[in-house]
Amino acid sequence: MVDAERSVPRHIAIVMDGNGRWAKKRFLPRFFGHKAGVDAVVRTVQACIDRGVPELTVFAFSSENWRRPADEVSGLMGLVLAAMSRYMARMHALGVRVRIVGDRQGLGDKLRKAWDEAESLTAHNTRLTLNVAFNYGGRWDVVQAARRALAAGVQPEDLTESRFGEFMATAGSPDPDLFIRTGGEVRISNFLLWQVAYSEFVFSDCLWPEFGEAQLDAALAAYRQRDRRFGGVKEA
Ligand code: IPE
Ligand code: IPE
Ligand code: MG
Repeated sequence: MVDAERSVPRHIAIVMDGNGRWAKKRFLPRFFGHKAGVDAVVRTVQACIDRGVPELTVFAFSSENWRRPADEVSGLMGLVLAAMSRYMARMHALGVRVRIVGDRQGLGDKLRKAWDEAESLTAHNTRLTLNVAFNYGGRWDVVQAARRALAAGVQPEDLTESRFGEFMATAGSPDPDLFIRTGGEVRISNFLLWQVAYSEFVFSDCLWPEFGEAQLDAALAAYRQRDRRFGGVKEA
């Protein structure tokens, strides 16, 4: 049965994977795959706005991505800075509110400053919220939430699921209705663990730099066919 209640997801989360393989296919260094990946993010933001999707969370750098060669890591940091200065005015003009989710410790001052500026510049935009998960891990998120709940003096008997959710890095956002992973791998890779409890998963072989309107529409079509029961039963 088709779930007609919510044909457009309120929140899409994407594991943008396959940049390295995209570059390799073209005999280019991996960095060029990441660079093309930035353009795919901009395309996807526009496509989500056009389709009335109000929130998008993209996985840009995981807690585990520090294991990559130092030059790839520093290339990614530089790319994020360059992408912000190149696209932030355009995002703002589109009405995009930008939020960075992840562990800001251990990152350069320049990056932190650029994020703070982007967040305050776009804080009042309402068209689409773009959460950029950077130095993010699902387990880190659960642990930092637990630490902050303890520090806030929340008593054990008061710690409900919704109270706990207020301490997660994505507080204030609805859980993702749709979770997309490009690049052909079928795993979560420590992305939003708490928040995907009832997300619909779509895995695509498309490499992230190739992602665009057609791939988004295919994922949305798959999503519309899903019968979301949330543990209950649906009347025939
Ligand atoms: C995803 O693409 C981007 C990041 C993790 C930053 P990859 O770099 O993982 O690309 P593949 O998986 O090696 O193709
Ligand atoms: C997940 O991709 C992280 C991001 C897209 C930022 P990875 O390429 O790092 O995941 P694994 O290593 O294949 O699990
Ligand atoms: Mg990968």
